[in-house]
Amino acid sequence: MQIGPLTLSSPFILAPLAGFNDLAFRQLCREYGAGLCYSEMISCHGLVFEQDKTIQMTRTVPEERPVAMQLFGSDPEIMGEAAAILSELPIDLIDINMGCPVKKVIKKGAGAALMRNPALAARIIRLVRRHSKVPVTVKFRTGWNHESIVAPGFAKMAEDEGAAAVSLHARTWTDGFSGEVDLRVLADTKRAVSIPVIGNGGIMTYEQGQEMMNQTGCDGVMVARGALGRPWVFQPNRDEPSLLFRLRALSRHLDLLELHYNQQICLAKTKNHIAKYCKGIIGGAAIRQRIFTMTSFPNLRAYIETLQNESAARLNR
Ligand SMILES: Cc1cc2nc3c(=O)[nH]c(=O)nc-3n(C[C@H](O)[C@H](O)[C@H](O)COP(=O)(O)O)c2cc1C
Repeated sequence: MQIGPLTLSSPFILAPLAGFNDLAFRQLCREYGAGLCYSEMISCHGLVFEQDKTIQMTRTVPEERPVAMQLFGSDPEIMGEAAAILSELPIDLIDINMGCPVKKVIKKGAGAALMRNPALAARIIRLVRRHSKVPVTVKFRTGWNHESIVAPGFAKMAEDEGAAAVSLHARTWTDGFSGEVDLRVLADTKRAVSIPVIGNGGIMTYEQGQEMMNQTGCDGVMVARGALGRPWVFQPNRDEPSLLFRLRALSRHLDLLELHYNQQICLAKTKNHIAKYCKGIIGGAAIRQRIFTMTSFPNLRAYIETLQNESAARLNR
């Protein structure tokens, strides 16, 4: 898949996920085969006003590239300034969030609210484009509600303003994060533009991603919740993995956390992801509960290592 000058090794992409897509998780998903990973959404104000927490979110390493940083906001000038700041960093794409349904974001006219204000959305894309040295992509939904499906026209507007690709979460704002994804609108959106279209929504397996591409003609797919605790979703032909395989993935995740963050942060971040790794495995609830009570990252690592050794021993028996 090609986005502007960027050639991706796979059309399977890690979607932006606030609270999850830090440097370690992005690098993990790249190692498991994601062709590109998006950051969590980054506030344009936070960047322009140099807030520490926001600056931290922009950290990258060469091993994870290509990487996309996602901006959100509704002030075109500030979005432009933020794009100029991001552009100086070693990143490959800047994405604009026009699909977030969260009230706090919508109230400020950002995220999915921009789908109801295409003139403002166009101005934001124009200014971000103007100030960016890397290609710009836009992520949005099918529309505000089922009575106002606007994605094909919105995608055309984004293309006319210079977007290098668009991503479509094929649900409306009123759908939130559940409900059927609308493959028909995704196919219509693909037909409406000549830039690449990335489909998103409800993909839990590699095969479902392939199916979305086959059914709609979209050029790539973004996986969001399907990658949490399951970074192997980016690998083709994978049977339901064994406990040992899952523990190895978790262990690699912990390696990467340790590489990039201090131990207190590693502990907190592991607790944030652990429920996802434990979902659907026998004894998963007990593992999760035990980890939640832990106060030391080295002890947590040792516990996972013991589980791994026990699991390997069971397989060799
Ligand atoms: C916890 C969580 C955080 C998310 N954060 C972002 C975000 O920062 N930016 C964004 O554009 N979408 C965000 N999304 C939306 C996802 O990128 C994706 O569009 C949506 O979850 C549908 O894909 P899925 O069905 O594969 O999960 C988030 C979704 C979830 C569940």
